Amino acid sequence: MSAQIGVTGLAVMGANLARNLARNGYTVALHNRSIEKTDYLLEKHGGDGEFIRTETMQELVDSLEKPRRVLIMVKAGAPVDSVIDSLVPLLEPGDIVIDGGNSHYEDTRRREAALAAHDLHFVGVGVSGGEEGALLGPSIMPGGSREAYDSLGPMLEKISAKYNGEPCCRWIGTDGAGHFVKMVHNGIEYADMQVIGEAFDLLRSGAGIEPADQAKIFTDWNSGTLSSFLIEITAEVLGHTDARTGKPFVDVVVDAAGQKGTGRWTVVSALALGSPTSGIAESVFARALSSQTEQRVLAQGILQGHEGTVELPETFVEDVRLALYASKLVSYAQGIDMLTAAAKEYGWDLRLDEIASLWRAGCIIRAELLDDIMKAYAVAEERPANLLLTPAFAEAIAGAVPAWRRVVATAVQLGIPVPVFSASLAYYDGLRRPRLPAALTQGLRDLFGAHTYNRVDGEGTFHTLWGEDRSEIEAVDTH
Ligand code: 6PG
Repeated sequence: MSAQIGVTGLAVMGANLARNLARNGYTVALHNRSIEKTDYLLEKHGGDGEFIRTETMQELVDSLEKPRRVLIMVKAGAPVDSVIDSLVPLLEPGDIVIDGGNSHYEDTRRREAALAAHDLHFVGVGVSGGEEGALLGPSIMPGGSREAYDSLGPMLEKISAKYNGEPCCRWIGTDGAGHFVKMVHNGIEYADMQVIGEAFDLLRSGAGIEPADQAKIFTDWNSGTLSSFLIEITAEVLGHTDARTGKPFVDVVVDAAGQKGTGRWTVVSALALGSPTSGIAESVFARALSSQTEQRVLAQGILQGHEGTVELPETFVEDVRLALYASKLVSYAQGIDMLTAAAKEYGWDLRLDEIASLWRAGCIIRAELLDDIMKAYAVAEERPANLLLTPAFAEAIAGAVPAWRRVVATAVQLGIPVPVFSASLAYYDGLRRPRLPAALTQGLRDLFGAHTYNRVDGEGTFHTLWGEDRSEIEAVDTH
């Protein structure tokens, strides 16, 4: 008996993907650095399907049908390179090495090129949905060559989540495209969680609504336009009482949010691409600030908050819902803008409608509005320059704007930080304003550094002789 796929790295994500593959009828060869994990999986879940137990990399490779498919599920970074190094000498041209972890897309590009030199395929696959998704059906974002996808795709599609029967797995594009799209997914995930947190803080610290009551509000919100996995689980977490103290669970958790890096990578890439993902960036910074515990403790005794009373609008709860919705839309718009910029930079033919379609189920940011986002990009000739400019979303956001402004203004008065609500609103206003103070920035740059400027009334590049008679000269292109 030979296996259709091998999985090396049997921590929870690897083990659950292996089980998912076996449950879908594939024979799966199992390998782990320490055999205990392999044996544990076989003992606990051997009945899920056909598994082949292997102890060494050589045994794993020998147990596979050709072309071989080996799925690496180890920690991103050096561990992936080390598995590749031990695997590659054992493989033959045409074999497919798959990395299903949250690897950086630049690493994936490098590895793909290195393996291509050995006539091996390297496929970086973004997998979203956490432990449960891996087992029951994740959203899958594969990169690598089209040829590799032809061999691997049917398996991945079979084990993926389904939305109305359609698999949430499509070939995304060459080399690191899959991991890039997964990274942006995570950036949106960070922003999504932060706007939920800001709403929670406003409802709690602004309107005095206790977590258990907020759980009901979030459940209610989950049946409307905000309907999504993250809103659903927010209700669950807020409704949970700590068994040890009888307090709301959220009150016994230390308020310092960590990260494994995908949010940070999104922002670093956005900066390099020149894509203004301000909401996503603020969500990453919000986690960083939350973790500066020492400074926060000191600041509590020194920095002033707000004084006096702030009257909340009667519509406050509904206003917060609308602000959350509008900010969420902005984070999707920013994520998509980044995808567009990356497609140009890396030569990927990213189909935004397909990407939105495979985020509709299985992944962490799954949300009802993704179906509408998918439709917004479905007709190539009608692709909007920005998600917010599609008629349906422009209308939806217009309906939210007055409430959004009230919420941000109230939060500022109350001294409750809403970095993503306010950065998203600033992005919205920045997009729509006919004139921006960037004109002044250009003037300043020209004065102190002769950086030149363009004029609103004609072609050409100019410089003003600021230190002389302030006459304007046409700038000479020195390149
Ligand atoms: C997913 C998740 C998953 C993980 C992220 C975020 O799509 O299933 O994004 O990949 O939760 O790595 O983790 P951090 O918040 O620790 O960065």
